Amino acid sequence: MKFFVDTADTAEIKSLAATGLLDGVTTNPSLIAKSGRKILDVIAEICALVEGPVSAEVAATEYDQMMREAAVLRKIAHNVCIKLPLTPDGLRACNTLSKDGVQTNVTLCFSAAQALIAAKAGATFISPFVGRLDDIGQDGMKLISEIVDIYSNYPALQTQVLVASIRNPIHVTTAAKLGADVATLPPAVLRQLYHHPLTDKGLAAFLKDWEGTGQTIA
Ligand code: G3P
Repeated sequence: MKFFVDTADTAEIKSLAATGLLDGVTTNPSLIAKSGRKILDVIAEICALVEGPVSAEVAATEYDQMMREAAVLRKIAHNVCIKLPLTPDGLRACNTLSKDGVQTNVTLCFSAAQALIAAKAGATFISPFVGRLDDIGQDGMKLISEIVDIYSNYPALQTQVLVASIRNPIHVTTAAKLGADVATLPPAVLRQLYHHPLTDKGLAAFLKDWEGTGQTIA
């Protein structure tokens, strides 16, 4: 399973890239707003930090303007992935861009039917939002299961399932059990994956016993 980080905070991305766990980055207009920076600057900086796909979202809602924005964003770096909303215009833009060999991420997916038409539009990634479904009392992971099942019925569909709106490590492991291709994690959730209280307790005991030996290794 690939791990993307869902942030426009370049200090966080730099630090997480050093872990070797990072396969890409996703951003959205809210995350760009939170960074307080200009989108072209922040996406260029992220693309220089990470080799994998960096999702940069269009702000337009109408096809022609989406295509103009996509043209500007894709010029930033070879690893820019154009993020488009799951609307008729967004999927039309996705279809055009994918035919031109551009990586695309179709976002704001909340149903299996939406995921199916995004795949037919040639999306590189489909982003179902699990946390936002859980927030309204629906089962976000049930949607991931449905999409993975549907896509597996049609091997010609190349779209990768990118689980988004992740809130906790259980979302990550459940997505992995279901065979999702990618999880995009908030930095805090990615850091949470390392931790278990028995790891901390066990390491403290090992270090104490080792100290008693008086040895050094290097
Ligand atoms: O970037 C899309 C998605 O991951 C947003 O998550 O937490 O705002 O629902 P969230």
